[in-house]
Amino acid sequence: MADPFFLKKGRIEEVVLETEDVKRFLISVDGFGEFKPGQFNMLYVYGQGEVPISISSIRSDLIEHTVRLVGDVTEDLFNLREGDILGLRGPFGSHFPIEKFNGFNIILVAGGLGLADIKPVTEYILRNRDYYGRVYLLVGSKTPASLIYKGEFERWKEKIDLLVTVDRPEENWKGHTGLVTRLFDLIEIDPQKSVAMMCGPEVMMVSASEILIERNFSPYKIFISMERHMKCAVGTCGHCQFGPYFVCKDGPIFAYSKMRYLLKVKEL
Ligand SMILES: Cc1cc2nc3c(=O)[nH]c(=O)nc-3n(C[C@H](O)[C@H](O)[C@H](O)COP(=O)(O)OP(=O)(O)OC[C@H]3O[C@@H](n4cnc5c(N)ncnc54)[C@H](O)[C@@H]3O)c2cc1C
Ligand code: FES
Repeated sequence: MADPFFLKKGRIEEVVLETEDVKRFLISVDGFGEFKPGQFNMLYVYGQGEVPISISSIRSDLIEHTVRLVGDVTEDLFNLREGDILGLRGPFGSHFPIEKFNGFNIILVAGGLGLADIKPVTEYILRNRDYYGRVYLLVGSKTPASLIYKGEFERWKEKIDLLVTVDRPEENWKGHTGLVTRLFDLIEIDPQKSVAMMCGPEVMMVSASEILIERNFSPYKIFISMERHMKCAVGTCGHCQFGPYFVCKDGPIFAYSKMRYLLKVKEL
């Protein structure tokens, strides 16, 4: 088995500024193996530090990561440019099991930067569109300016139902306003034939999952993406432990049935 601590070298081929604090990096990596929607890599800025970042596309010629500047290492990442080299290990973790749900309707829910983790599932569905029924992508963002991947929206809309809402609309905003969960009132939900997959703030995923359960959705057919501080990413250091699980190895994608009661335990 390959050494999970071996750092591959990645060369940044393209940088796209998505918003004032979010950048998308397209990275060439020799010998990067197969990966699935929802998995992540550890990105290492030489001499600075390492952070877990979701793989935000299914394309395999260039590995895509979308990074928000929040602290020390993401700031160093943010400052990298085309031609710079970084270290990379992965792919790690579980994935959204989209390939198991042929014939189902799919409800994708993304809050803020959570869309970075939902984008590869969306791309997988678009590539295999005939295998799925009705597909909804519900996106919530604080403001129109903080929406990422706006350049992809028109293309996605040709094949799936995309609904976008913002908390604080700006002057020319013509779309929906309010929490992403309000969009559930605008779509058809058939709990027997549907599966939900989501990524965003924990409070959003809990609230969205509970609304779906109230509408007779099974918690076994809701999949959420969990985030915890990580160091090793392979289940040896214990940094990401959450109840009986290591989020890096058992997750980050879990059926809500496994997380439902753990997420209600304070200070876990
Ligand atoms: C599986 C996984 C996938 C992720 N995918 C992405 C992604 O696609 N794009 C992206 O921009 N970020 C992603 N993150 C979050 C990213 O790893 C953190 O933002 C990063 O580690 C912060 O490092 P830093 O040194 O810049 O900030 P620090 O200086 O370490 O921290 C800055 C602030 O961010 C908080 N913080 C740090 N790490 C986390 C975390 N894991 N969860 C919540 N708060 C945190 C700290 O408490 C602090 O308030 C992911 C995290 C995980 C676990
Ligand atoms: S990050 Fe070390 S056990 Fe998960």
